[in-house]
Amino acid sequence: MNERDSEIMLQLLEQQGYLLCAELEAADAVIVNTCSIRGKAEQKAYSFIGSLRRLKKEKPNLIIAVAGCVAQQEGHKMKSRMPHVDIVLGPHSIYQLPDLFQEVVDGQNNIVSTSQSDDFIIPPFLPNLKHGLPHKRFVTIMQGCNNFCTYCIVPYTRGREVSRKQEDILAEVEHLVAGGVKEITLLGQNVNSYGNDQPPSSCISFAELLRNVAAVPGLVRLRFTTSNPKDLSPALMDCFKDLKNLGHHFHLPVQSGSNKILKKMNRKYTVETYREKVAGLREACPDISLTTDIIVGFSGETAADFQATMDLMEEVRYDSAFSFKYSSRPPAKSCDFEDTVSEEGKAERLAIFQNRQKEISLERHQEYIGKSLEVMIEGESKTGKGQWSGRSTHNLIVNFYSPRTYLPGELVQVTVTEGCLNSLRADLS
Ligand code: 5AD
Ligand code: SF4
Repeated sequence: MNERDSEIMLQLLEQQGYLLCAELEAADAVIVNTCSIRGKAEQKAYSFIGSLRRLKKEKPNLIIAVAGCVAQQEGHKMKSRMPHVDIVLGPHSIYQLPDLFQEVVDGQNNIVSTSQSDDFIIPPFLPNLKHGLPHKRFVTIMQGCNNFCTYCIVPYTRGREVSRKQEDILAEVEHLVAGGVKEITLLGQNVNSYGNDQPPSSCISFAELLRNVAAVPGLVRLRFTTSNPKDLSPALMDCFKDLKNLGHHFHLPVQSGSNKILKKMNRKYTVETYREKVAGLREACPDISLTTDIIVGFSGETAADFQATMDLMEEVRYDSAFSFKYSSRPPAKSCDFEDTVSEEGKAERLAIFQNRQKEISLERHQEYIGKSLEVMIEGESKTGKGQWSGRSTHNLIVNFYSPRTYLPGELVQVTVTEGCLNSLRADLS
């Protein structure tokens, strides 16, 4: 979502005559779009913003703006810690960026725009096709989150759930497809809640929206991210049976395999209901690729709770998993819980999880050997001339050699010859 927000900010400033600059040193303005989901991301943002102090000294007219969730969360604190920053703006303020820039040009340098109004809407916005990948794009359908998982900062930084109007979403998708885009990923913090904030008279579900987007003529592949398992409906599972252009991939973050921990995380599902959803998805789409997010070392996680996560991972056999050490994120509720697992304990559990997941990913990828896959070309691979790289419907990277030249977005039929840790190798069919 930050990537999409960055594109929007760039486009708005281009309309004011600014140009994208390849070199930081040559820029007249710098926007740092930050993420605060985990402590590490926030530290990285602060250290980069700090490093801009030198540039500002050399070029006093340089405009420095900090956007995104760290900006939202820190607000005036960011301004006092980093006085060389001119603008601090939260995710709801990105559409005001040209006005905020103008204020700086007019002499202001103390702008903090982080208020979150209940009337916020995601406005209609047609992307400029000049920047970004030619064949695949993100389209925001909702933002914010009402779930308040106890470890998570997102409901505080991105605010309450706001769904975008279906007509604006369809207009953006149609515009992109008319411009040659083949693959769309619908974006939201919790896409399955799409429409829940709308009055019942105008409310459609995420499954209905997905069907309507899938029907846009010329759209070759459709994906979405991210979902909370508690909201994964049978109607959404049915989409995988019916929609030919829906990618065979589902990112279904489980976070933990222990019911005690899931409850303390306020995830509102159990391991048993999660399992049922996995089974439902696999029934609807037998070759669906499942990926997940895991947090190790959450408050109160015992060796037995961690083992329950390992057991669930053995059972589901994810294609891949993002895994993180728990970090406390004020003002998320878990900051009041005791951090019971030591840093070393967290690191040890993370390594155990990641090592086993690597083995499973490799085994899963080897299961593709001999299968014929339709691959959407991304481009020529960096590793060698004549080697091409694309993605299967499962979102797996597939590399193959061909004497031909392809354009991004072209479809090619290949047969898998080797399964690697992060990709597949294949021959032209
Ligand atoms: N500590 C560790 N991981 C976290 N995530 C979110 N908040 C935290 C936190 N406080 C992880 C979750 C989520 C992913 C985007 O980031 O696994 O699904
Ligand atoms: Fe955070 Fe939970 Fe919302 Fe995901 S569903 S953004 S983890 S509060």
